[in-house]
Amino acid sequence: MIVTSQIDELRKHRWADPSLTWGFVPTMGYLHAGHLSLVQLSLVGNDKTAVSIYVNPTQFAPTEDLSSYPRNLAGDLALLEAAGVDLVFTPSDTIMYPPGFQTTVNLSNVTQPLEGRSRPTHFAGVATVVAKLFNIVQPTRAYFGQKDAQQTVVLRQLVRDLNFNVAMIIGPTSREPDSLAMSSRNARLSKADRLAAPILYQALSAAKNAYASGERSGVALRGLMWEMITAVPQAKIDYVSAADPKTLEELEIVEDGVLLSTAVFFGKTRLIDNILIEATENTEEKEGNF
Ligand code: PAJ
Repeated sequence: MIVTSQIDELRKHRWADPSLTWGFVPTMGYLHAGHLSLVQLSLVGNDKTAVSIYVNPTQFAPTEDLSSYPRNLAGDLALLEAAGVDLVFTPSDTIMYPPGFQTTVNLSNVTQPLEGRSRPTHFAGVATVVAKLFNIVQPTRAYFGQKDAQQTVVLRQLVRDLNFNVAMIIGPTSREPDSLAMSSRNARLSKADRLAAPILYQALSAAKNAYASGERSGVALRGLMWEMITAVPQAKIDYVSAADPKTLEELEIVEDGVLLSTAVFFGKTRLIDNILIEATENTEEKEGNF
């Protein structure tokens, strides 16, 4: 496995045989089974797989947890090596944002609601770093998790708008046995908060079941989730949402698919989760692995 922080070194390997397909999994490290499930998808779908590990400062607001974001490079590299990854890109801040750097990729509508309301600069940071990583790696396919639902919508839009020649593959959310979506931030939950955290998926599932039983009111679906989560004393809701899966606008009436999502604080730790009920044909959610 090649591990490099250098762009020219990466490109040398990437283009050693231009006939090979490359899958790419961008990450911020502290890898868990969710990240590794995306790596597996890439390994089976491509000749070669590259993973990036970079805690991107521009997607964190000054008040957020950049300095305390968990890191474990040695552990991550051991996991990726064991998985059979071909190349790991571990750039420094000065390689990604050299002195004089002045370009930001901003998307308008889809970055505004949900995560964007609480984290107004977040998606500009994500879009900028992912655009850079796509230009550096030039992958055939790129892999992202449904866990970060709005991120997938934003990045699909980025690829469309800027004509990136990359296929976007979205993998299902990997969960702990008690249904909590895997996240690097789960490690920061207190014991009591960790026990309470499955309420996110329970509330989303209750809304999904209500939808399956015919409930079509966005207000009712959001209200159901709100009531269940507020019943947990230490959970502080940031948002509950029943939104259009493409525009991310809140729905009054669900007609053709819905993205149910929520963000909840446990102490300082902010958790997100979602269930996507896809449009038309059938109403099956996209979470086949749970
Ligand atoms: P990070 O949070 O490290 O996540 C890397 C990828 O793993 C993302 O596509 C994310 O959606 C996916 N992922 C996280 N938890 C998952 C889970 N439980 N199941 C399945 N996939 C999961 O997302 C980022 O990093 C950054 O914003 C990045 C795209 C790397 C840009 O900096």
